[in-house]
Amino acid sequence: MLNEKGFDLWADHYDKTVQISEDNNQYPFAGYKQILAYIYNEVMQPHQSTILDIGFGTGVLAAKLYEHNHEIIGLDFSKQMISIAQSKMPDAQLIEWDISKGLPGEVHSKVFDSIISTYALHHLREEEKVSVINDILPLLKENGKIFIGDVAFPTRRQLEACRLENIDVWDEDEFYFVVEELSDRLKGICTCKFHPVSHCGGVIVLEK
Ligand SMILES: C[S@@+](CC[C@H](N)C(=O)[O-])C[C@H]1O[C@@H](n2cnc3c(N)ncnc32)[C@H](O)[C@@H]1O
Repeated sequence: MLNEKGFDLWADHYDKTVQISEDNNQYPFAGYKQILAYIYNEVMQPHQSTILDIGFGTGVLAAKLYEHNHEIIGLDFSKQMISIAQSKMPDAQLIEWDISKGLPGEVHSKVFDSIISTYALHHLREEEKVSVINDILPLLKENGKIFIGDVAFPTRRQLEACRLENIDVWDEDEFYFVVEELSDRLKGICTCKFHPVSHCGGVIVLEK
Protein backbone atom coordinates (compact mmCIF):
# COMPACT_ATOMS: atom_id res chain seq x y z
CA MET A 1 0.00 0.00 0.00
CA LEU A 2 1.29 3.49 -0.83
CA ASN A 3 2.24 5.50 2.21
CA GLU A 4 2.86 9.25 2.31
CA LYS A 5 6.39 8.82 0.92
CA GLY A 6 5.01 6.78 -2.01
CA PHE A 7 2.62 9.61 -2.83
CA ASP A 8 5.48 12.13 -2.54
CA LEU A 9 7.33 10.20 -5.25
CA TRP A 10 4.20 9.88 -7.42
CA ALA A 11 3.16 13.53 -7.09
CA ASP A 12 5.14 15.01 -9.99
CA HIS A 13 3.85 12.51 -12.57
CA TYR A 14 0.47 11.79 -10.95
CA ASP A 15 -1.57 13.89 -13.42
CA LYS A 16 0.12 12.15 -16.38
CA THR A 17 -0.62 8.66 -14.99
CA VAL A 18 -4.26 9.59 -14.56
CA GLN A 19 -4.49 11.02 -18.07
CA ILE A 20 -3.14 7.88 -19.76
CA SER A 21 -5.54 5.58 -17.88
CA GLU A 22 -8.44 7.97 -18.47
CA ASP A 23 -7.71 8.49 -22.20
CA ASN A 24 -7.71 4.73 -22.72
CA ASN A 25 -10.88 4.25 -20.68
CA GLN A 26 -8.96 1.84 -18.49
CA TYR A 27 -9.12 0.79 -14.87
CA PRO A 28 -8.49 2.54 -12.51
CA PHE A 29 -9.06 6.09 -13.84
CA ALA A 30 -11.66 5.50 -16.58
CA GLY A 31 -14.20 8.32 -16.22
CA TYR A 32 -11.91 10.44 -14.00
CA LYS A 33 -12.68 13.79 -15.68
CA GLN A 34 -16.40 13.11 -15.81
CA ILE A 35 -16.41 12.08 -12.15
CA LEU A 36 -14.64 15.28 -11.14
CA ALA A 37 -16.93 17.31 -13.41
CA TYR A 38 -20.02 15.77 -11.81
CA ILE A 39 -18.81 16.77 -8.35
CA TYR A 40 -17.68 20.19 -9.58
CA ASN A 41 -21.14 20.96 -11.00
CA GLU A 42 -22.89 19.86 -7.80
CA VAL A 43 -20.55 21.67 -5.44
CA MET A 44 -20.57 24.89 -7.49
CA GLN A 45 -24.32 25.38 -6.83
CA PRO A 46 -24.06 27.42 -3.65
CA HIS A 47 -21.84 30.46 -4.31
CA GLN A 48 -18.71 30.91 -2.23
CA SER A 49 -19.26 27.76 -0.22
CA THR A 50 -16.92 26.17 2.30
CA ILE A 51 -15.52 22.86 1.11
CA LEU A 52 -13.44 20.16 2.76
CA ASP A 53 -11.38 18.07 0.32
CA ILE A 54 -9.98 14.82 1.72
CA GLY A 55 -6.92 13.58 -0.20
CA PHE A 56 -6.86 16.52 -2.62
CA GLY A 57 -3.60 15.37 -4.27
CA THR A 58 -2.37 17.82 -6.89
CA GLY A 59 -5.58 19.80 -6.38
CA VAL A 60 -7.13 19.18 -9.80
CA LEU A 61 -10.70 19.58 -8.51
CA ALA A 62 -10.13 21.79 -5.48
CA ALA A 63 -8.16 24.38 -7.48
CA LYS A 64 -11.06 24.77 -9.94
CA LEU A 65 -13.44 25.44 -7.05
CA TYR A 66 -10.90 27.75 -5.42
CA GLU A 67 -10.69 29.78 -8.66
CA HIS A 68 -14.44 30.35 -8.30
CA ASN A 69 -14.02 31.81 -4.82
CA HIS A 70 -14.98 28.77 -2.76
CA GLU A 71 -13.14 28.40 0.53
CA ILE A 72 -11.01 25.26 0.43
CA ILE A 73 -9.80 23.34 3.45
CA GLY A 74 -7.91 20.19 2.57
CA LEU A 75 -6.36 17.17 4.23
CA ASP A 76 -3.59 15.11 2.66
CA PHE A 77 -0.65 13.23 4.14
CA SER A 78 1.81 13.81 1.25
CA LYS A 79 4.08 16.85 1.60
CA GLN A 80 4.79 16.88 -2.13
CA MET A 81 1.09 16.73 -3.10
CA ILE A 82 0.45 19.59 -0.66
CA SER A 83 3.26 21.62 -2.18
CA ILE A 84 1.84 21.21 -5.73
CA ALA A 85 -1.73 21.96 -4.62
CA GLN A 86 -0.73 24.92 -2.47
CA SER A 87 1.02 26.55 -5.45
CA LYS A 88 -2.37 26.51 -7.24
CA MET A 89 -4.33 27.65 -4.15
CA PRO A 90 -2.12 29.98 -2.10
CA ASP A 91 -4.85 30.92 0.38
CA ALA A 92 -6.35 27.47 0.87
CA GLN A 93 -5.85 25.84 4.26
CA LEU A 94 -4.09 22.62 3.33
CA ILE A 95 -3.32 20.46 6.32
CA GLU A 96 -0.80 17.62 6.37
CA TRP A 97 -2.78 14.83 7.98
CA ASP A 98 -3.35 11.08 7.82
CA ILE A 99 -7.11 10.66 7.61
CA SER A 100 -6.93 7.10 8.98
CA LYS A 101 -6.12 8.72 12.34
CA GLY A 102 -9.43 10.62 12.51
CA LEU A 103 -9.80 14.36 11.95
CA PRO A 104 -7.31 17.09 12.86
CA GLY A 105 -8.31 19.65 15.48
CA GLU A 106 -8.40 22.45 12.89
CA VAL A 107 -11.54 21.09 11.20
CA HIS A 108 -13.56 20.22 14.33
CA SER A 109 -14.71 23.79 14.76
CA LYS A 110 -15.74 24.19 11.10
CA VAL A 111 -18.86 23.33 9.13
CA PHE A 112 -18.97 22.66 5.40
CA ASP A 113 -21.44 23.02 2.56
CA SER A 114 -19.75 20.10 0.81
CA ILE A 115 -17.17 17.50 1.70
CA ILE A 116 -15.45 15.98 -1.32
CA SER A 117 -12.97 13.18 -1.77
CA THR A 118 -11.78 11.81 -5.09
CA TYR A 119 -9.67 8.67 -5.52
CA ALA A 120 -8.39 8.87 -1.95
CA LEU A 121 -10.68 6.87 0.32
CA HIS A 122 -9.99 3.59 -1.52
CA HIS A 123 -6.69 3.62 0.39
CA LEU A 124 -8.66 2.94 3.56
CA ARG A 125 -10.15 -0.39 4.64
CA GLU A 126 -13.96 -0.69 4.86
CA GLU A 127 -14.15 -0.07 8.62
CA GLU A 128 -11.84 2.95 8.29
CA LYS A 129 -14.01 4.38 5.50
CA VAL A 130 -17.12 4.10 7.67
CA SER A 131 -15.26 5.65 10.59
CA VAL A 132 -14.20 8.64 8.40
CA ILE A 133 -17.80 9.03 7.17
CA ASN A 134 -19.05 8.97 10.77
CA ASP A 135 -16.47 11.62 11.68
CA ILE A 136 -17.27 13.99 8.82
CA LEU A 137 -21.09 13.77 8.75
CA PRO A 138 -21.44 16.09 11.78
CA LEU A 139 -19.31 18.68 9.96
CA LEU A 140 -21.95 19.15 7.25
CA LYS A 141 -24.18 22.22 7.27
CA GLU A 142 -27.91 21.61 6.95
CA ASN A 143 -28.50 20.22 3.42
CA GLY A 144 -24.75 19.68 3.05
CA LYS A 145 -23.54 16.63 1.12
CA ILE A 146 -20.52 14.36 0.92
CA PHE A 147 -19.34 13.53 -2.62
CA ILE A 148 -16.99 10.59 -3.05
CA GLY A 149 -15.67 10.11 -6.58
CA ASP A 150 -13.68 6.93 -6.84
CA VAL A 151 -13.21 3.46 -8.24
CA ALA A 152 -16.58 2.05 -7.26
CA PHE A 153 -18.98 -0.73 -8.24
CA PRO A 154 -22.67 -1.27 -7.51
CA THR A 155 -22.03 -4.88 -6.44
CA ARG A 156 -19.14 -7.13 -5.35
CA ARG A 157 -19.83 -9.27 -8.42
CA GLN A 158 -19.12 -6.27 -10.71
CA LEU A 159 -15.93 -5.47 -8.82
CA GLU A 160 -14.82 -9.08 -9.21
CA ALA A 161 -15.54 -9.01 -12.98
CA CYS A 162 -13.41 -5.87 -13.34
CA ARG A 163 -10.64 -7.43 -11.24
CA LEU A 164 -10.52 -10.50 -13.49
CA GLU A 165 -10.46 -8.36 -16.65
CA ASN A 166 -7.55 -6.36 -15.24
CA ILE A 167 -5.79 -9.09 -13.30
CA ASP A 168 -2.30 -8.05 -14.52
CA VAL A 169 -2.61 -4.49 -13.26
CA TRP A 170 -5.17 -4.81 -10.45
CA ASP A 171 -3.94 -3.27 -7.20
CA GLU A 172 -4.70 -5.74 -4.41
CA ASP A 173 -3.67 -3.16 -1.79
CA GLU A 174 -6.55 -0.85 -2.59
CA PHE A 175 -10.08 -1.24 -1.24
CA TYR A 176 -12.57 -0.09 -3.84
CA PHE A 177 -16.10 0.92 -3.00
CA VAL A 178 -18.88 -1.64 -3.31
CA VAL A 179 -21.98 0.51 -3.03
CA GLU A 180 -24.43 -2.20 -1.90
CA GLU A 181 -22.07 -3.07 0.98
CA LEU A 182 -21.41 0.55 1.92
CA SER A 183 -25.16 1.28 1.89
CA ASP A 184 -25.71 -1.62 4.31
CA ARG A 185 -23.02 -0.34 6.67
CA LEU A 186 -24.48 3.18 6.56
CA LYS A 187 -28.12 2.17 7.21
CA GLY A 188 -29.58 4.44 9.86
CA ILE A 189 -26.58 6.80 9.61
CA CYS A 190 -27.08 8.61 6.28
CA THR A 191 -28.53 8.15 2.81
CA CYS A 192 -26.25 6.75 0.12
CA LYS A 193 -26.83 7.26 -3.63
CA PHE A 194 -24.58 6.11 -6.46
CA HIS A 195 -24.10 7.71 -9.88
CA PRO A 196 -22.10 5.32 -12.06
CA VAL A 197 -19.90 7.09 -14.62
CA SER A 198 -17.55 4.52 -16.17
CA HIS A 199 -17.16 0.75 -16.05
CA CYS A 200 -15.11 1.12 -12.85
CA GLY A 201 -15.97 4.45 -11.29
CA GLY A 202 -18.66 6.81 -10.17
CA VAL A 203 -19.83 9.25 -7.55
CA ILE A 204 -21.28 8.29 -4.18
CA VAL A 205 -23.42 10.98 -2.57
CA LEU A 206 -24.07 10.84 1.18
CA GLU A 207 -26.57 12.98 3.06
CA LYS A 208 -27.62 13.10 6.72
C1 LIG B 1 -4.84 8.92 -6.04
S1 LIG B 1 -4.56 10.48 -5.26
C2 LIG B 1 -6.05 11.39 -5.63
C3 LIG B 1 -5.81 12.88 -5.70
C4 LIG B 1 -6.98 13.75 -6.12
N1 LIG B 1 -8.04 13.78 -5.14
C5 LIG B 1 -7.52 13.36 -7.46
O1 LIG B 1 -8.71 13.05 -7.61
O2 LIG B 1 -6.75 13.36 -8.43
C6 LIG B 1 -4.81 10.06 -3.55
C7 LIG B 1 -4.45 11.20 -2.60
O3 LIG B 1 -4.89 10.84 -1.29
C8 LIG B 1 -3.83 11.04 -0.37
N2 LIG B 1 -4.00 10.04 0.69
C9 LIG B 1 -4.00 8.69 0.57
N3 LIG B 1 -4.18 8.11 1.77
C10 LIG B 1 -4.29 9.13 2.67
C11 LIG B 1 -4.47 9.18 4.08
N4 LIG B 1 -4.55 8.07 4.80
N5 LIG B 1 -4.54 10.40 4.67
C12 LIG B 1 -4.43 11.54 3.94
N6 LIG B 1 -4.25 11.55 2.60
C13 LIG B 1 -4.18 10.36 1.98
C14 LIG B 1 -2.55 10.88 -1.17
O4 LIG B 1 -1.45 11.55 -0.59
C15 LIG B 1 -2.94 11.46 -2.52
O5 LIG B 1 -2.69 12.85 -2.57
